[in-house]
Amino acid sequence: MTPAVFPPLDARLEAVANLIRAPLHADIGSDHAALPLALLHRQRVERVVIVEKTAGPLEVARQAVSLAGLEDRATLRRGDGLDPLLPRELESVSITGLGQRTMLGILERGLGAGKQPETLVVQPNDGAGLLRAWATGHGYWLVAEALAPGFWRYPVLRLEQAGGPDPAYQGLPEAAASVYGPHLLRQRHPLLVQEVQAQLRRLEGLERHARPQILSDLATARSVLAWLESSGG
Ligand SMILES: C[S@@+](CC[C@H](N)C(=O)[O-])C[C@H]1O[C@@H](n2cnc3c(N)ncnc32)[C@H](O)[C@@H]1O
Repeated sequence: MTPAVFPPLDARLEAVANLIRAPLHADIGSDHAALPLALLHRQRVERVVIVEKTAGPLEVARQAVSLAGLEDRATLRRGDGLDPLLPRELESVSITGLGQRTMLGILERGLGAGKQPETLVVQPNDGAGLLRAWATGHGYWLVAEALAPGFWRYPVLRLEQAGGPDPAYQGLPEAAASVYGPHLLRQRHPLLVQEVQAQLRRLEGLERHARPQILSDLATARSVLAWLESSGG
C-alpha cells in the first residue's frame, strides 16, 4: 500500500488551519489543496469541499487528494467562489491567498445568491481593513485573528455570524482597529509593530503627493504606533 502524502503547510496556512474546526468545511480557491488535506489529516474537520474556478489548479487539487488517499472525505467542484456550495456547506468556509478585493467580490456575489457562510476564515495577501469593515457591516464578529510571517505579514481572520456590535472593537480607536486588527492591537502582536513600521515607511515615501487617502492612512498608522506606546506595550 502506497503511503499517504500530504503537501506541507507554511506558517501562513498553519495560522489558518489553527482557526478552523468544524464537521464540514469548504475551502474556496484551494489550488494545491494543502489546507483542506491538513484539516482532514489533523482531524480538525471530518469532510471537506474543495472549490476551484480554474481547471489546472482543480486537477492539482484532485491529484493531491488522491496522493493523500482521502477521496472518500473530499469533494472537488469547479466553480466561482461560493456558487458551487449547497446551503449546509456554508457552515464553515475558508478563502486564502487572494487579494482582499477578490475575496470581497466572492462574498458579495455569494450574498447576492443568498449564500452567507456562518463561519469564515479569510487570509488576504494585501491587508485586511476592507474585510474587517465588510464583516462589521454584514453581521459578523471578528472572534480571532493571527498575523503570520512569510514574504509579507499575512493577516488571518476568523469571522462568525452574530448579532449586535462586535465586542472586539470596544474601547479601541476605530480606524486603527479596523485597519490593523483589534485582537492584534490588544495582543501587541510582535509582527504588528513590524507591519505598522513597514506601512509608515511606505506611506512616508508617498506623503509628498499629499493624496487624501495617503494622508489618512499615514495618520492611522501613526495613531497605532502611538496607541501601542501609550498603552504600555
Ligand atoms: C494564489 S492561489 C491560493 C491557493 C491557496 N488557497 C493558498 O492559500 O495557498 C489562488 C487560487 O484561487 C483560485 N481562485 C481565484 N478566484 C477564485 C474564485 N472566484 N473561485 C474559486 N477559486 C478561485 C485560483 O484559481 C487559484 O488556484
